[in-house]
Amino acid sequence: MIAAIDAVAIAVNGRSFALDVPPNTLLIDFLREQLQLTGTHQGCDTAQCGACTVLVDGLAIKSCNRLVLQCAGQKVTTIEGLAILRSQAGDSPLSAGPQTSVLGR
Ligand code: FES
Repeated sequence: MIAAIDAVAIAVNGRSFALDVPPNTLLIDFLREQLQLTGTHQGCDTAQCGACTVLVDGLAIKSCNRLVLQCAGQKVTTIEGLAILRSQAGDSPLSAGPQTSVLGR
């Protein structure tokens, strides 16, 4: 059996892509395997940990339970994209350090 392929147009971290994907492709797999954006991690298989969180049109979503075809025509921002935005603003994401501590110190 030959798997169906659908075309998806999507913007990721400010770059536009038009790629063919199997219709059951999860957004996390698309980001990690097709775009090599490995900053988005899979931490569980129950959609509960949030390690896979990305922004889609500015809203945080879990990319492990969203099909890439559901994001067609939308703007996705990964952790790599946030680092780019921050460096363009003159901040280094590595020099910023934590803003708050869980210990309150
Ligand atoms: S990988 Fe855990 S919520 Fe997505």
